[in-house]
Amino acid sequence: MSFPWAAQYTPKNSFMKWMDERLPLPRLVYNSVGAGYPVPRNLNYFWNFGVLAGVALVIQIVTGIVLAMHFSADTGVAFASVEHIMRDVNSGWLMRYLHANGASFFFIVVYIHIFRGLYYGSYKPPREMVWLLGLVIFLLMMATAFMGYVLPWGQMSFWAAQVITGLFEAIPLIGNPLKQWLLGGFAPDNATLTRFYSLHYLLPFVIAGVVILHIWSLHLPGSSNPTGIDVKGPQDTIPFHPYYTAKDGWTVGVFLIALSILVFFAPNFLGHPDNYIEANPLSTPAHIVPEWYFWPFYAVLRAFTVDFILPAKLWGVIAMFGSIIILL
Ligand code: HEM
Repeated sequence: MSFPWAAQYTPKNSFMKWMDERLPLPRLVYNSVGAGYPVPRNLNYFWNFGVLAGVALVIQIVTGIVLAMHFSADTGVAFASVEHIMRDVNSGWLMRYLHANGASFFFIVVYIHIFRGLYYGSYKPPREMVWLLGLVIFLLMMATAFMGYVLPWGQMSFWAAQVITGLFEAIPLIGNPLKQWLLGGFAPDNATLTRFYSLHYLLPFVIAGVVILHIWSLHLPGSSNPTGIDVKGPQDTIPFHPYYTAKDGWTVGVFLIALSILVFFAPNFLGHPDNYIEANPLSTPAHIVPEWYFWPFYAVLRAFTVDFILPAKLWGVIAMFGSIIILL
């Protein structure tokens, strides 16, 4: 730890001393989120969104594990199994609405978290690795959210899978075989649903692993602060606990209240009604639209309408991936 003035952990009783010599977990907690981790004293509320993103990830994993107990990844029954969760499973509706709206809230807090980084220059030395790992998390989040949306096998699920895997077709030579490899066939079908389910379950745990690296790489230099000038000594910092545990606790409360308002009073506000129609490969919806958190990227994708040297579709794909990669 690079703070010579940080408070030192001393075990309070003989059990904690015994523990400290064998598995120093309490010491790790003390030095990471306890009184032993000095934090700039002038952080504003924008520095609360990392913890909120962590809370959102936990909500997604917990509700997702319960949903997985009742969901069936077979194109014949996937849609019905989601309705079964909504109507028959005790509190199934709550788990599903928390999971669906939780995904939106996850993106809201992560977008604010990213914009904080861009605005205050959090990506600059010595925090480049924090930023790069953050972007890895963001890409994994996008993949996870996309595959999760396909699982209920509604009309938007099916056609989103069709459109997004269709993007890969724009890549010269390998495009078509690549699309078939991703789908496990010529069109979205059972092979697509089962592999998306498998990956949708796996990736959040990969995200959790990268989050640990993200916070590890942050805790070496410590947080930046709104002035952009790094802390120089104890006069510039306060211990994480109790000051930032309290401040984070308060915003977690606000976050949960906002999520509850949506879940209990307008649970389908951010969703698309067409996804309550079962997937039908013979009927293309009038408008195929992604979830709101992909709109900026979808707009970039669709912005190219003229074939110029390369096909318009390929320009769209290049620009869309470019708009993410440029953040690196
Ligand atoms: C699951 C998603 C994420 C979690 C749980 C997470 C967690 C955190 C936490 C707890 C902090 C310290 C508190 C704070 O500064 O807010 C932090 C800092 C930071 N995060 Fe994230 N993060 C996530 C995604 C991202 C993404 C997508 C980016 C950027 C592309 C990013 C970039 C940063 C940077 C640059 C900092 C250092 C901020 C500073 O000290 O100025 N994070 N993150």
